[in-house]
Amino acid sequence: MDKLVINGGKPLKGEVTISGAKNAVVAIIPAVLLVKGKCRIENVPDISDVDSILKMIAYLGAKVDKPDCNTVEIDCTNLNTHIVDKELAAKMRASYYLMGALAGRFRKAAVPLPGGCNFGLRPIDQHLKGFNSLGCITECDDVYVNIDAGNLRGGNVFFDVVSVGATINVMLAAVLAPGKTVMENAAKEPHVVDLANFLNSMGANIKGAGTDIIKIEGVSSLSGGTYSIIPDQIEAGTYMSAVLATGGDAIIKNVIPKHLDAITAKFMEMGAVVEEFDDSVRVAVEAPLKPINVKTLPYPGFPTDLQPQIVVLLTTVSGQSTVTEGVWDSRFQYIAELTKLGADIDVQGKRAVVNGGALLSPGEVEATDLRAGASMVIAGLLAKGTTKISQLRHIDRGYEHIVDKLRGLGADIERIDE
Ligand code: EPZ
Repeated sequence: MDKLVINGGKPLKGEVTISGAKNAVVAIIPAVLLVKGKCRIENVPDISDVDSILKMIAYLGAKVDKPDCNTVEIDCTNLNTHIVDKELAAKMRASYYLMGALAGRFRKAAVPLPGGCNFGLRPIDQHLKGFNSLGCITECDDVYVNIDAGNLRGGNVFFDVVSVGATINVMLAAVLAPGKTVMENAAKEPHVVDLANFLNSMGANIKGAGTDIIKIEGVSSLSGGTYSIIPDQIEAGTYMSAVLATGGDAIIKNVIPKHLDAITAKFMEMGAVVEEFDDSVRVAVEAPLKPINVKTLPYPGFPTDLQPQIVVLLTTVSGQSTVTEGVWDSRFQYIAELTKLGADIDVQGKRAVVNGGALLSPGEVEATDLRAGASMVIAGLLAKGTTKISQLRHIDRGYEHIVDKLRGLGADIERIDE
């Protein structure tokens, strides 16, 4: 079994370059199913979620080529089937984007219920409601969601909750649907905007992405082209948290500072140094950090995907901080692992009270999901001594070349097969 071995206690210093956004690319690759022609996608992160989604679309008949580890070329001119493989789909949540994409392309889709990180209930009712508003008939059995999109057309959708996945899925289904679609209470995340930009650059007519009302005029076809994925704001926030947790000073390169606003605001409230440049930020600790209260919210709020990382950072800060989870029902399972390293955190429902200040001890922990895994890595980097982390498949899903990137910042970290 592979493990990360970290000899922690050294401040991270230097520079790190952020990769393309996982949650953008896992939507944009399924979107290519709507395009008859060749798409070249650049700045693709070299992570296992990308491998999984590429395997899924290759199974459907897409021609997939990877000229280098950060570029993919996909030709979906000829596809064979609208039925997605069950085992491949179980590996990741974003397999559900194949519902919207296949409904748009084939006017029918059979997609297994999605896998992904376990945060308690992860319903897809808003996705199905959206498809129904566009004239589709949806039916779920124990394994598959079957969509009959024979009458696909534009429609009005008002989401009851702000959902990234449902917004993206309805966008995918609506792009080639005749007529006008209006989505209200849509998600505003940068990856929603990136998908709209990709589709528009291939000939779609989508307006308003990045606001809570998105309007789509259906077009008859999309053609191929080249597109570059935006930088991953969650990977950036993860490295920023790691630098601050170790008392370091580093430049985080290839970011869109605007996408980091909620994150930099919280770090500045803690008293950290955050300097913004055109496409990079410097973060550093120059005075003791202060405790804060954080609540995760949909964008432009503080992202839930950075909640475990900021909790570890707050264990280093003297005093009491509170972190409230405002998106998922259950995203604190990883705290049991942090407690093994001596963290003093009291979970009360959706609120974690962090009694910070005592340095974490090294130990053996598991990555219980993707971002929880990132928080274990930060814990290992700050604890003085040797920490071992297992269940790396979760980390591999979303962090490109994490060992090399951390070594570039001076960390003592290696991956071993134990
Ligand atoms: C996306 O998941 C991300 N995944 C998640 O990132 C992220 O945590 C989440 O958005 C929130 O930002 C991808 O982009 C692949 P949602 P998604 O639909 O789309 C409720 C990571 O670590 N809801 O926005 O599945 C739901 O229960 C991951 O990179 C419904 O009630 O999340 C939740 O409380 C993990 N009905 C809230 O909405 C629905 O039909 C937000 O979920 C759909 C969602």
